[in-house]
Amino acid sequence: METKLYNNEIAFELSTKKIEEERQGETLAVERPASVQSNGKKFYIESYGCQMNFADSEVVASILANAGFDSTTQYTDADLILINTCAIRDNAEQRVRNRLQGFNIVKKNKKGALVGVLGCMAERLKEKFLEEEKIVDIVVGPDAYRSLPALVEEAETGQKAVNVLLSREETYAEINPVRLNSNGITAFISIMRGCDNMCAFCVVPFTRGRERSRDYRSIIEEAQDLYNRGYREVTLLGQNVDSYRFSDDKTLVGKRLVEAKYEEGVVNFARLLEMVAQIAPDLRVRFSTSHPKDMTDDVLYTMAKYNNICKYIHLPLQSGNSRVLEMMNRTYDREWYKNRIDAIKQIVPDAAISTDIIVGFCSETEDELRDTMTMMEYAKYTMAYMFIYSERPGTLAAKKYKDDIAEEEKKRRLNEVIQLHRIQSLESNKADVGKAFEVLIEGTSARDENYFFGRNSQNKVIVFPKQSQQPGQYVQVKVTDCTSGTLIGEAV
Ligand code: SAH
Ligand code: SF4
Ligand code: F3S
Repeated sequence: METKLYNNEIAFELSTKKIEEERQGETLAVERPASVQSNGKKFYIESYGCQMNFADSEVVASILANAGFDSTTQYTDADLILINTCAIRDNAEQRVRNRLQGFNIVKKNKKGALVGVLGCMAERLKEKFLEEEKIVDIVVGPDAYRSLPALVEEAETGQKAVNVLLSREETYAEINPVRLNSNGITAFISIMRGCDNMCAFCVVPFTRGRERSRDYRSIIEEAQDLYNRGYREVTLLGQNVDSYRFSDDKTLVGKRLVEAKYEEGVVNFARLLEMVAQIAPDLRVRFSTSHPKDMTDDVLYTMAKYNNICKYIHLPLQSGNSRVLEMMNRTYDREWYKNRIDAIKQIVPDAAISTDIIVGFCSETEDELRDTMTMMEYAKYTMAYMFIYSERPGTLAAKKYKDDIAEEEKKRRLNEVIQLHRIQSLESNKADVGKAFEVLIEGTSARDENYFFGRNSQNKVIVFPKQSQQPGQYVQVKVTDCTSGTLIGEAV
């Protein structure tokens, strides 16, 4: 075990496995509430894509359990097989199509078993899904999960059932997501849905619809409830958390007064963050994703003010070159991004910064790729999710630009940025050797059962030999060694 734990490559893989957009094939077990009578049917749900999709699966499980379904973690046992899909890149969709083929066996063996597709790929393809994948009976988009029980009934009569209506209001605010497959310590809370940006490469605005913020009271309630049940970390989720805005007076929501923390009658992200942080000093608060164009100094000052707001910001760069950023319609340029990095370093000096990078976007030159790499050096990311550009049908880029960088060349560029990031993350981790951090223990290390794993405020994974501590506790851990993906230490 020791040798494995200290093997750079494996440890790096372990941490990159956490890759937010590429989590895949995880299942969820749920208990039906005692007050609800069983309908004798079992569902199985498998999720792909970003954290928001995983959070949605918890909402879906809650809706089904309340409609009388029991759950199973074996798809071969299920009467209803659900797959919650991602459409962000072509390979995400291919993975879903392959998986669907695997479900054929259940349809053959179990008469009446139904297959439903949920999520972003369902929304993107709509009825076309039924033509393209004969195995599919039900297609449901991200805003239509409440209709799932009715759609199942419809499908049971032998009809194909589809609901891909997007909504301007749906936030599933009062649905209490079930969390039975979780570690009981960390949880995700969706604070908003949809996205109003139109990044040229991105399919999300088409699959998730217009941006809307969830009532802050239901968010606080959910966080408080999690805390009462022993959870010690919540991550507030949205495609662009900095544009969170809620008001009971709907006419105020559209009027954005930038940089005003206390706008009469409006709760913005800085305010929401503060309210969640005030629930309890030992409840850690994280959030994702920050859009560079909207990240205000207010949010940074709030982070600095509260010890329990984790010092970690995911600030997707996409490209370090202003011409490419403009083509991407990111609405910031290199200087603006650099200014945001400077603001973080000044206001929250101990913050770690992570990012998303796309290489091989339409017409990107070698020099422009260098700009991305020099920005990586400038920002000193502790974590980076790096992607090859994948053209998505219907997006601005697909309509306006030619996807003209050859696949081989894209791969070479990806390898270059991965190599650079690997060196940088190793350097960053080496700089932590000798330091002590407060770590929230999340569980036993996957690599060695004699080790716990947890994270520091900066979101770095730390493993250390178990003593008498328990998951859910905070411990001071002194870092004694590291790989590019993991810190290794001992409790002090
Ligand atoms: N709302 C977040 C991103 C959500 S999608 C933001 O604006 O930062 C997660 C990441 O997937 C993006 O940051 C981007 O790096 C990547 N991505 C999105 N569309 C892509 C595409 N067509 N090809 C490759 N990567 C893509
Ligand atoms: Fe996609 Fe841009 Fe919205 Fe992020 S901000 S989800 S990249 S459109
Ligand atoms: Fe994928 Fe949809 Fe999330 S496209 S990344 S599951 S919002």
